[in-house]
Amino acid sequence: METIIISNTNDLQQAADILQEGGLVASPTETVYGLCANALNEEAVKNIYKAKGRPSDNPLIVHIADLSMLQPLVTEISPIAKTLMEHFWPGPMTLVFKASKMVPKVVTGGLDTVAVRFPSDPTIQNLIKTSKLPLAAPSANTSGKPSPTNFTRVYEDLNGKIDCIIQGGNSAFGVESTVIDTTSEIATILRPGGVTLEMLEEVLGNVMIDPALGHKLKEGEVPKAPGMKYTHYAPNAEVIIVKGEKDKVIAKINELVREGQNLGKKIGVMATDETLSLFNADTIFSVGTEKNPTTIAANLFEVLRKYDDEKVDIVYTLAFQTTGIGGAIMNRLEKSAGYHFIEAY
Ligand code: TXA
Ligand code: MG
Repeated sequence: METIIISNTNDLQQAADILQEGGLVASPTETVYGLCANALNEEAVKNIYKAKGRPSDNPLIVHIADLSMLQPLVTEISPIAKTLMEHFWPGPMTLVFKASKMVPKVVTGGLDTVAVRFPSDPTIQNLIKTSKLPLAAPSANTSGKPSPTNFTRVYEDLNGKIDCIIQGGNSAFGVESTVIDTTSEIATILRPGGVTLEMLEEVLGNVMIDPALGHKLKEGEVPKAPGMKYTHYAPNAEVIIVKGEKDKVIAKINELVREGQNLGKKIGVMATDETLSLFNADTIFSVGTEKNPTTIAANLFEVLRKYDDEKVDIVYTLAFQTTGIGGAIMNRLEKSAGYHFIEAY
């Protein structure tokens, strides 16, 4: 299949026509690039799963560009949902509602709920408005790989497999949206993201976190967001997180690098602007500045993919603080490391 590349984000008529006809279009969003199809067209949605190699029980998020598009998709909008919508839409927040009959089961992975997001990125808003369709869209990567935060990575994974890619700029947030279940009494975070726990607590008071988050799943444990059970965000390189006091972590990583190199492996380190000069390794990238964790979120997936470009075997990384956006950063990093930690003493 020839993939059409559209670089004028002001003229999306051709991309909208492709969606109308049941095709697949990758679009920038403020979180990560998304792979879009008409959410109401079962065949089109099935092709999303095929193009990504995604397990069919992992439901998709439906994207809207006007609040009036929500009502037909859901049976109930709880007071919690209304409060969250007022504060954080449009933006990097996905809400889970009871689904109406209009939503195909292939979108919800067979669940009776549907996840909906109103993105703030003007390009995907324009695409939704021009096509006049709610768009089902997972991240526009091959299933399992780090999500794409720029055009080049989408092209790398999906060129030749989808109808069209819209070439926009880099994603501002760099981690996917916060997924929140609004179908029970208390809002529950199913996936941490750009809208942080602290921001949610400020408007709601009480917020729960799905107990299946934050650790390697035990046997039989089922997260409420089905996608959270899969290996994710993983480059080909093995990622290992080194925890502890900063000085000790730096010394430990340098020691681990030497050991790996002695075994003939190519070793990478994921550092910060502040620590970049303190490491010796084959490939060292800074993921951002510790003074502003939003830079770390914005660069994380791209930097993880860069170790694969360099064919690195093992990446040792610092652990980051877990407050604010750090909650989403560490969630993604822990998953890319398969919860492999080393303590520095
Ligand atoms: O920022 C984002 O959310 C990006 C952009 C493209 O909008 N999309 C994205 O989609 O990250 P995806 O498919 O990679 O992740 C969707 C997550 C998965 O963990 C999935 O299991 C969860 O949302 N999800 C979708 N529908 C759900 C539902 N009805 N109940 C619980 N979790 C759901
Ligand atoms: Mg994804």
